[in-house]
Amino acid sequence: MIVRELKPNVYSLSAIDWDRKLFDELVPLPEGTSYNAYLVKGSEKTALIDTVHPSMTEDLLKALKSMGLERLDYIVSNHAEPDHAGSIPAVLAAYPQAKVLANVKCRSLLTSSLNLPADAIQLLQDEQVLSLGDKSLRFLWVPWVHWPDSTITYIVEDHIMFSCDFLGAHLATSDLYASDEARVERAARVYYAEIMMPYRPNVNKHLKRLEDLSIKMIAPSHGPVYARPDFILSLYRQWTGDETRPEVIIPYLSMYESTAKMVAYLVDRLMEKGMSVQPFNVANLDSGRFSSALVEASTVVFASPTVLNGPHPAMAYAAYLANVLRPKTKYAAIIGSYGWGTGMPESLAAMLTNLNVKWFEQINVGGTAKAEDFVALDRLVADICAANGLLAN
Ligand code: FEO
Repeated sequence: MIVRELKPNVYSLSAIDWDRKLFDELVPLPEGTSYNAYLVKGSEKTALIDTVHPSMTEDLLKALKSMGLERLDYIVSNHAEPDHAGSIPAVLAAYPQAKVLANVKCRSLLTSSLNLPADAIQLLQDEQVLSLGDKSLRFLWVPWVHWPDSTITYIVEDHIMFSCDFLGAHLATSDLYASDEARVERAARVYYAEIMMPYRPNVNKHLKRLEDLSIKMIAPSHGPVYARPDFILSLYRQWTGDETRPEVIIPYLSMYESTAKMVAYLVDRLMEKGMSVQPFNVANLDSGRFSSALVEASTVVFASPTVLNGPHPAMAYAAYLANVLRPKTKYAAIIGSYGWGTGMPESLAAMLTNLNVKWFEQINVGGTAKAEDFVALDRLVADICAANGLLAN
């Protein structure tokens, strides 16, 4: 870890995890990640904003020592998840005079996960301002942009916002700033999809609250710093707004090519009509790509063969993801095929009750698709095109 200055007396202490491939045994990290702590030195007091993943605690302690930091007054915990709070006990051991600052929800989570005594943590109120001398920290509680404890810390004089997970990106890079915006946008979009999208209306509400804040820099706890805040804020406004894109996402798989032929026909007909289409074979699902595709797509067609009178388990996983991520999708359909049991569409629909969509006609084919089944697929194409403002013919 190296120490890099963002502004006079404001430092980035970023633990870059180049090798990590999976987060929470769940989220693929194709480009690694970072855990960013920040140090703010006021004329009278010094505060550390968040810490790092426990596996990189030693890096953080060495970096603090390399700065010649003899005294630390505050450790601000914006969020209690261990990738940001897990090094707090070690930092406290190195700087025993430091006070941990957290809101009431974060304090409860910290005491249960780190076994810190509650009286070791000083409570923060929403909108509280803490003076460090010539710099002051303002704390904004933004519950449920991610977890109930989520907090933003803001340096009033420098207009720097430390947003923790909010607005971040899983990206290991030597770039201090988000200079490669296309790369950062891809990573930030996947991150938003997997972490924030389930709370989309709430995230949008908190974005509106931030409009009253003068923000010159956003320093998240994963990925590079935004020296151009409107880059990420405008993306978040787009992702969390109600508008969708005319695009059809088709999670599918096939056991004997019957469902695959229906999907291939559907893809071709939709492309002929000028629709944007993305099929995802869920047998080897890249959950990051799939989640990212759901961020703005207007339409999802689930296409599954039948296993034991329900969807294929790989489709059940894709449906579970789509259901818990709560994308703003407006239209959906279920198509597929069966050998002896016709219950797949009902079972699959019952897994998708969080989707606030208009459902199109289900198409469930016995064996392989016949002429009348392709006519039904043509009707589905016409319905999708009409719903998306395209003429079907
Ligand atoms: Fe990056 Fe919610 O932890």
